[in-house]
Formats: sequence, C-alpha cells, structure tokens
Amino acid sequence: MLVIVKDNHDDMSKEAARIVADRLRAKPNLVLGLATGSSPLGLYAELIRMHREEGLDFSKVTTFNLDEYVGLPPEHVQSYHAFMNKHLFSHINVDPRYVHLPLGTAKDIGAFCQCYEQRIADCGGIDLQILGIGANGHIAFNEPGSSLGSRTRIKTLAGTTRLANAGFFKSSDEIPKYAITMGVGTIMEAKEIVLLATGFGKAEAVKAAVEGPITASCPASMIQMHRQVFVVVDRDAASGLTGLYNDTWDSDAP
Ligand code: GLP
Repeated sequence: MLVIVKDNHDDMSKEAARIVADRLRAKPNLVLGLATGSSPLGLYAELIRMHREEGLDFSKVTTFNLDEYVGLPPEHVQSYHAFMNKHLFSHINVDPRYVHLPLGTAKDIGAFCQCYEQRIADCGGIDLQILGIGANGHIAFNEPGSSLGSRTRIKTLAGTTRLANAGFFKSSDEIPKYAITMGVGTIMEAKEIVLLATGFGKAEAVKAAVEGPITASCPASMIQMHRQVFVVVDRDAASGLTGLYNDTWDSDAP
C-alpha cells in the first residue's frame, strides 16, 4: 500500500489523475472502476482537462461504476448515472456502449447483480478502481458489517449515510433506503485501487482503513489485503495517521 499525502484536494486530485493517465496511456483499453461523491470530483475535472489539453484518449476505455440508488431511474437528477454524465462522461470521448452502472430500477435486482459481475469478468476484470471512503469506513455502499468477501448486491444504507446524502434530496422521504453496490470482494479483485479522501471528517476512517485492524466494522480496512493500492489523501484526512508516508508517487520507480 502506497499512502501519498498531499497538501489539499487539488493536489490530491492531480496526483490521482497522474496515476490514472499513466495507466490509460499504457493500456488504451483500460477497464476503469469509477466512484461518485465529492472525493473524485477534482480527479474527474483533471482528467477532463487532460483530455482537452493533452489529448488523453478514453475512446477504448470500459467503465464500471461502484453503485447506484435503488428506485432512481438513470435520468433522475440525483442518480449516480446523472452524476457521472454531469461530472465526467459528457466531457470526455468515452464510448457510451462501454459505460456500465448498476441500474437502480432493475426489476430483478439479484439477476441484474449477477449480470453486472459477469460483465466485469467478461471484460477481463477491473484494471484500476477509484474509491472514496465514507466517514463510517464504507466503500461504495458496503456499510460497516458488510461481508469482506461480498459481491454485487442490494444493501440497506446506514442512517448516517442517508443523513450525509440528505442535502441532495428535497425531503427525507426521498432519500433512497437501498442501493445496488459492488461488494468488497468485487472491489478487491480490481488489479489496482486508488482510494481518495480529503478533510478532517475522513481522518478517523482513513486511520481505521490504513492502520486499523482488518474488520468488517470498517470495510475499507480490507484494502490492507490488496496487493496494489494507492491511498491518496490530503493532510487533513491524513491527520490521524501515525506512520511515515510519501508525498508523491514516483512513476519511474523500477
Ligand atoms: C457515498 C458513495 C461512496 C463514496 C462515499 C463518500 O455513499 N456511495 O462511493 O465514496 O459516499 O462520499 P464523499 O466522497 O462525498 O465523501
């Protein structure tokens, strides 16, 4: 695990974008796992800039998003489909045929989840997975208590997670209670992982994920078992860490 501590959200985002762009240039048909939330916003903005100014090419990339709210159709403004279109897909040359997100309105959610897993496998697995982290240590919508071997499935959202998302919905009744999410086991099969976090609000979760015991009480702690993880955080999110960590990633390191 390579922990990289940057000064702020901007620098964190640029560092993460360097890693993504490096992998994409090496493998134009990269299979990219994507996340929603505020944490990857700067990364997406930087990837869009690289696409526009440096010709970073997404035309052969396949994407798989981590999760989606159950009940929200793709055109709902608070759906993760809409989020991804707004913050990334509509600004880059990704082929819509290669874009995958869980479908919150799937009639048979169990069958849908199985197909989603199969589609990932058919594409050769995820090369690089972007992750945020919830203040309670969740990754995607794998709330504390989620099996560390779990696969794509429906999950009930924690009360704190629903509260954290309350601002996006007009009334509390509208906040979805369930989500379809890749499992911890699904995420762990990605060949590489980049976990992003900024702000003091994430410090405890980052400490538990990086230095705490591996436990279902903090699903993000499972990254300690992964062979190739970059934890890219700002100083505030890193403020609980006691180890000595890096301030950059050396792309030329042998
Ligand atoms: C949501 C998402 C996660 C995300 C997390 C943190 O619940 N399902 O994928 O990582 O919250 O969000 P943020 O980056 O906005 O703090």
